[in-house]
Amino acid sequence: MPLLGVNIDHVATLRQARQTNEPDPVWAAALAELGGADSITIHLREDRRHIQDRDLEVLRRTVAVKLNLECAISHEMIDTACRVKPDQVTIVPEKRQEITTEGGLDVVQYKQAVSQAIARLHDAGITVSLFIDPSPGQIDEAVELMSDAVELHTGAYALAISPHDRDSRLLELARAATMVRKAGMVLAAGHGLTYRNVVPIATIDGMHELNIGHSIVSRAIFVGIAQAVKEMKSLMG
Ligand code: PXP
Repeated sequence: MPLLGVNIDHVATLRQARQTNEPDPVWAAALAELGGADSITIHLREDRRHIQDRDLEVLRRTVAVKLNLECAISHEMIDTACRVKPDQVTIVPEKRQEITTEGGLDVVQYKQAVSQAIARLHDAGITVSLFIDPSPGQIDEAVELMSDAVELHTGAYALAISPHDRDSRLLELARAATMVRKAGMVLAAGHGLTYRNVVPIATIDGMHELNIGHSIVSRAIFVGIAQAVKEMKSLMG
């Protein structure tokens, strides 16, 4: 059964809607842990639209499970990560206008910058994961770059409408997963996963961890965070 990383960005989104101090993502992290979260994920965006620097600093001190920081490859973000030292950094692409992370990071195009970021993060003792599309070229490059882990982007699978499209996206993810495992990297996946579509991804051979945010926080509004996390974990098992 894969581990579950809970992305709590949306809790901060709600707080920022009023520029106030509630709901606090720090509370959300504690409740997600009580529900069985194996890691807590936050994305510190360059525009600080949801998670703030204060959240990262406080969560670094309060989260008892793995703290996974998603961030862009900018100098500012890598400096921040090296200073605060989350357990893991997942490098993601970032565009100002996007609603959420839109495709995987192109590690072929940004090879040099990614390589420098990985070296700095490794020197700081931080594990690195690369959020990439499930394509062989991207995985080969992640191996070259000596990333510790790869998070496969499941967005295309999640958005597939026809059963045929969904099956072919699933096959693409399963093939990519095999490549990641054979290369000896830790295998993770995420984006767009829900209570309805998670099972086929959770049962991909060797899947180590799934990162899920929107669906869990949406359900949490009605049943509470600990319960929402517990339900997702039981589906994944
Ligand atoms: N993984 C990564 C790298 C992401 O950027 C996100 C969204 O912030 C997620 C997983 C979670 O996606 P969702 O909110 O759709 O579950």
